[in-house]
Amino acid sequence: MPPTLQDVEILARQAGVILRNGYGKRHQITSKSHTIDLVTETDRRSEEFLIDAIKRRWPGSAIVAEESGEHAGSNGLWYVDPLDGTVNFAHGVPIFSVSIAYAEGGVVQLGAVYNPMSDECFCARRGEGAFLNGRRLRVSETAQLANALLVTGFPYDIWENPDNNLENFARFAVRTQGVRRLGSAALDLCFVAAGRFDGYWELRLKPWDVAAGGLIAAEAGAVVTNLRGGEDYLSPPQSILAANPAIHKQMLAVLNEKP
Ligand code: IPD
Ligand code: CA
Ligand code: CA
Repeated sequence: MPPTLQDVEILARQAGVILRNGYGKRHQITSKSHTIDLVTETDRRSEEFLIDAIKRRWPGSAIVAEESGEHAGSNGLWYVDPLDGTVNFAHGVPIFSVSIAYAEGGVVQLGAVYNPMSDECFCARRGEGAFLNGRRLRVSETAQLANALLVTGFPYDIWENPDNNLENFARFAVRTQGVRRLGSAALDLCFVAAGRFDGYWELRLKPWDVAAGGLIAAEAGAVVTNLRGGEDYLSPPQSILAANPAIHKQMLAVLNEKP
């Protein structure tokens, strides 16, 4: 039996308990590819729990997970981010999530993003809408960029790579009501789904950051593309733009302005 949305939501909530139990404790923090790309023992504990649960219940599944990489399989593909927002978590900021998506035939079908600190579980099944703790979600109706509240993030190679999103940030900062940086790409997308933000963009993400949130935003009525307006936001080099339809159009134009 393939997983149901309820299965994926239960997994996200169970891993969320691991994050909540680790919150506020002293952490063993190490850096990964870049000095500011952190991992804690809680990221690993959450991932081990999820991989083990998926393999036991749906043997033969392929899994792409942030900390352990690719697990070969032929029966559906899971994207697992066991803790999205590790820098917040390591500093005791209660904005982080578990993000889980399930795809079949290369198309994401199910997604759940759970913030254990606010007990908010965002989820969606393709074609059936998006929900927050059972309540249906809808993107905002903001029509003009000048009235919009946006959110973004910055890549971990920001210290050394000049293509670091700061120019885009500056452009939007002077044309909107504000641009936030929450620190969890998965939650950024869900907040667009909930109409809290009007739009979100980011460069150089990984599929586990956006697979679940992208589906949730789209199912709530967002237009979700890469930064050039193309459909594919999961293949490298990942970039994503998710916004209500009117704001998406205006953001795409700004992001593609010549310097
Ligand atoms: C990060 C967060 C952050 C985004 C980074 C991601 P992690 O994920 O989603 O908001 O700006 O690009 O890598 O490392 O905390 O799982
Ligand atoms: Ca992440
Ligand atoms: Ca992570």
